Amino acid sequence: MRPRVFVTRAIASDAVAMLRRHAEIEVWPRATPPPYAQILRRARAVEALLTMVTDRIDAALIAAAPKLRVISNLAVGLDNIDVAAASAAGIAVGHTPGVLTEATADLAFALLMATARRIAEGDREVRAGKWQTWGPSVLLGQDVWGATLGIIGWGQIGRAMARRGLGFNMRVLYASRSSHDSIAGAKRLPMARLLRESDFVSLHVPLTPQTRGLIGTKELATMKRGAILINTARGGVVDQRALYRALKSGHLAGAGLDVTTPEPIASNDPHLKLPNVVITPHIGSASYTSRNRMAEIATDNIIEVLRGRLPRFCANPEVTLRSG
Ligand code: DGY
Repeated sequence: MRPRVFVTRAIASDAVAMLRRHAEIEVWPRATPPPYAQILRRARAVEALLTMVTDRIDAALIAAAPKLRVISNLAVGLDNIDVAAASAAGIAVGHTPGVLTEATADLAFALLMATARRIAEGDREVRAGKWQTWGPSVLLGQDVWGATLGIIGWGQIGRAMARRGLGFNMRVLYASRSSHDSIAGAKRLPMARLLRESDFVSLHVPLTPQTRGLIGTKELATMKRGAILINTARGGVVDQRALYRALKSGHLAGAGLDVTTPEPIASNDPHLKLPNVVITPHIGSASYTSRNRMAEIATDNIIEVLRGRLPRFCANPEVTLRSG
């Protein structure tokens, strides 16, 4: 019998066609994620799940999936998957690093520019018919050129953000627990010092137990008065209530958030009332090219496991694959 794969959202059709050569595919037909119970029902019967960041793949679901051999996430981040439980069950976990690096750094830099130069506020004013005249003090913002950019997390996306900052003649600082290569012109500092010295702080760490709430009341208070926080990593990295207080009090001049807690952000969330906050709906990797490449890699990761090999981009290479 051909293996079965459940794909939790429509992805690039070429990638699905490729997967179809190797397996029976079911693609969740709606634009919104399948409820947990629906994924659980499929997980009981399939060899592979192709999941999104919106799908919670926890230990209970993994335990209920006797045939499952691979969980392939259409993302670089894996915080929606219990990778340890998958490894213990002999299930490979695939993800899609590399191909979304530049797109995500572009979005982070776009949020930096938008908050610094109040682009969303200006657009809202124009549309509301509030543009009366050119004015010497209308919508004044902050200079990006020559300012200090502090990057927390020095993986591929953090370094791509650094290159953008250097291109804008920014002073680039970074804080990192690992020892990835530096980039000429970027300076490594302890996080507290980076927070004190940066005009813009951009977050590029995965969400793990160690990074949950990494930026809280104390860290926000350490940031310069008038600084701007950019988050394209995960909402859980920031204590959102503390962020609201820092923005409301004027300690921070703004925030650019592509990720929030929860997602989507609640329609009555107080951040939505703050003019100096720009929020995008988790679209860091949402360029045509990146999403097509992510779909190719996510399907390829599954095909490799169906052939008895580890995924090319495997988050748990130590796993002993269960037999098919
Ligand atoms: C990721 O890849 O982790 C993004 O958040 C989704 O594109």
